[in-house]
Amino acid sequence: MTCDSTVDVGRVSIIGAGKVGSTLAEILLEKNIANVVLLDIISDLPQGIALDLIQAKALYLNDRQIIGTNDYVDTADSDIVVITSGQPRKPGMSRDELLKINSQIVVNVAKAAFAHSPNAIFIVVTNPLDLMTYLAWQTIGIPGHRVIGMGSLLDAARFRTFIAMELGISVANISGMVLGTHGNLMIPLPRYSTVNGIPITEIMDDSAIARIIERTRNGGAEIVKLMKTGSAYYAPAASTSLMIESILKNQNQLLPCSAYLQGQYGLENIFLGVPCLLGSQGVGKVLELDLTDAEYSALINCERKMRQTIEMAQKILNI
Ligand code: APR
Repeated sequence: MTCDSTVDVGRVSIIGAGKVGSTLAEILLEKNIANVVLLDIISDLPQGIALDLIQAKALYLNDRQIIGTNDYVDTADSDIVVITSGQPRKPGMSRDELLKINSQIVVNVAKAAFAHSPNAIFIVVTNPLDLMTYLAWQTIGIPGHRVIGMGSLLDAARFRTFIAMELGISVANISGMVLGTHGNLMIPLPRYSTVNGIPITEIMDDSAIARIIERTRNGGAEIVKLMKTGSAYYAPAASTSLMIESILKNQNQLLPCSAYLQGQYGLENIFLGVPCLLGSQGVGKVLELDLTDAEYSALINCERKMRQTIEMAQKILNI
């Protein structure tokens, strides 16, 4: 039996007790990663989920704590705040159409959570991801390394999964790198995706790679189409839990995340998916990969599109 209540594991507040938020809470508790505060705007919902999870915890036999609440006071002094509040993408709805509704929610939530946890690292999960990450950062005005978007890590997980399925090789042997925005313009990088160090470009033909890239780009939409009501949540929650673990345990895992760029890749004042070292400071370092002209212009294309989207959101929000 594990009983480690004396171990300081850190406190994570999850804003939005929907599919992603509650699944993330469950992973953090089950894997003994953090104590959790689950907050939602809907009365009693996070309290009910927390009670269910407390009873599940009795079976995991660890001493992690979970609180369900509608009051930001309960989130005070969190080490990490995760923003999953918003509306999920519905079938046929583009990520950009979510922009108006979710922008307002994310701005309000970021302000309220920051007021009670001014030293926290913020992880944004709500879509459209890179924009929401930018708006959260702009709203709370903390150094960029403390605000991180969960997007490219999920894209890379999908890319790795499809490579493993195509080759019939364990996904544990596959590493995958995806840059750019979390959406159709994402840039899966075959040259930097390997099977135990062997670039996939050496063991897969171009048409198979192109097919897998296309499926990765549509990875979220494929699931939305199948589920019909709601969008993916297991892999988004698992991706977020990996980021949290790397930060709380200062593991410095190299994970592709939406990070604030200050000159890296020749870009400034924008959040885009890039390889990041995640540790106790948040993004400790952004790794600059050597890109081909085509890869770099795809990244610039993401940047251009993102700047347009930011401008549009700022107009809508009047900020
Ligand atoms: N404050 C707190 N919670 C809120 C607020 C708010 N202002 N507005 C909405 N919520 C809550 C909703 O009540 C709901 O419980 O956010 C939760 C969202 O949960 P779901 O609808 O189940 O959505 P989910 O599948 O979890 O996705 C959340 O993550 O991956 C992204 O695209 C996805 O943007 C979406 C987000």
